Amino acid sequence: MDAAYKRVNGNSGQEAETEQPGTGQRRRGSMYLEEETNKKSEVISCIFSLKEEVGALAKGLRLFEENGINLTHIESRPSRMDKDQYEFFISVDPTCSQALDDVIEGLRTQISGHVHELSRNKQKDTVPWFPNDIQDLDRFANQILSYGSELDSDHPGFTDPVYRTRRKEFADIAYNYRHGQIIPRVEYTEEEKATWGTVFKELKTLYPTHACREHNRVFPLLEKYCGYRQDNIPQLEDVSRFLQSCTGFRLRPVAGLLSSRDFLAGLAFRVFHSTQYIRHSSKPTYTPEPDICHELLGHVPLFADSSFAQFSQEIGLASLGAPDEFIEKLATVYWFTVEFGLCKQGSEIKAYGAGLLSSFGELQYSLTDKPKLQPFDPDRTSIQKYPITEYQPVYFVAESFEDAKEKVRKFAATIPRPFSVRYNPYTQSIEVLDNTQQLKNLADSISSEMGKLCEALQKLK
Ligand SMILES: [Fe+2]
Repeated sequence: MDAAYKRVNGNSGQEAETEQPGTGQRRRGSMYLEEETNKKSEVISCIFSLKEEVGALAKGLRLFEENGINLTHIESRPSRMDKDQYEFFISVDPTCSQALDDVIEGLRTQISGHVHELSRNKQKDTVPWFPNDIQDLDRFANQILSYGSELDSDHPGFTDPVYRTRRKEFADIAYNYRHGQIIPRVEYTEEEKATWGTVFKELKTLYPTHACREHNRVFPLLEKYCGYRQDNIPQLEDVSRFLQSCTGFRLRPVAGLLSSRDFLAGLAFRVFHSTQYIRHSSKPTYTPEPDICHELLGHVPLFADSSFAQFSQEIGLASLGAPDEFIEKLATVYWFTVEFGLCKQGSEIKAYGAGLLSSFGELQYSLTDKPKLQPFDPDRTSIQKYPITEYQPVYFVAESFEDAKEKVRKFAATIPRPFSVRYNPYTQSIEVLDNTQQLKNLADSISSEMGKLCEALQKLK
């Protein structure tokens, strides 16, 4: 699930979520991973639980107030270690990080039994941490910004306890998933299948005329090999295996909202973080967040196309170690391409963005003369503002995926970072190209490939 998608639905991730009574007790150990750091002043977010007593949360918040700390984010979530307890995730303005040390000390000694510091290195002129190995993506499972069963008050399933329990089951699957494991299969209920069926049936009527040719080429293969049917919700594991055989892309379940940085980093490894739950049955044609209909009908077909897969990976690679302001720009580029992109196909314009291909209404609207169309240009596209609760007034049109990929590559070269990166598919790791030996290895590899190309060309003569 991508942070950008969340924004379209009116949740910037900055507002406080439902306050729950704190009942946490002292405990040791943690499921959260922290980044290596020796300087406490770099800590800008933390998670704490509360001792079981009346007014504990108020006391905790008072500590922040007394130290003049501005909270930029606070949310509660059920504790995975203690099902009846809640813990609180907070982020503070980085300029307050010194004072945060005092608050953390106060929380530890006076109020909370457990405080865990999460660091995002905000020091100037340093490169933000990024995953080097595909296994490193496991760290993101524990750094989600909201848990799957916590719904906003305007969510169609907010007052439905059965739906909320179900969402918790899906969230737990993702939370416990680790790279290399088989994605657990889900027995979807008849109600869930009916919801899927409604969406599937409606969208399928539009694809021949509105979807790009890549989507239409792959869709029948998904029907043949992955169980795409009106009466069946495909399993993530089957779809992931199919994608791996096509382009090396794979799915991994995600329990909640990831930051843009983490979500984009997954693409660098050809990993797409996918939800597994389905929208609420009361509104089958509406969802305030990505769900399995959006992922499987919108995203998956394109990830089976080699040019699109390369294009998506290019955005991911550009994000690794990029400064925050460029992450925002790349997330915006992602928004206007992978989510809401249009492309030229012959004399026509078709949709390839997943947000369009999973929305019956916006898919039709996007190809009318109502929205404004502009050529895809990362310099321009990356700074385009967009509304979060309505159809897009502006779409960007790509000449082709190849062309879009080259443009993103050029845009990535403007990102200030002291190295280049490339993905090594054999080791499933990122190679940082910052020394002559690395460059020599790359030159050898290209030379070998060029040799094969020349040989093949000779044979074709
Ligand atoms: Fe999406």
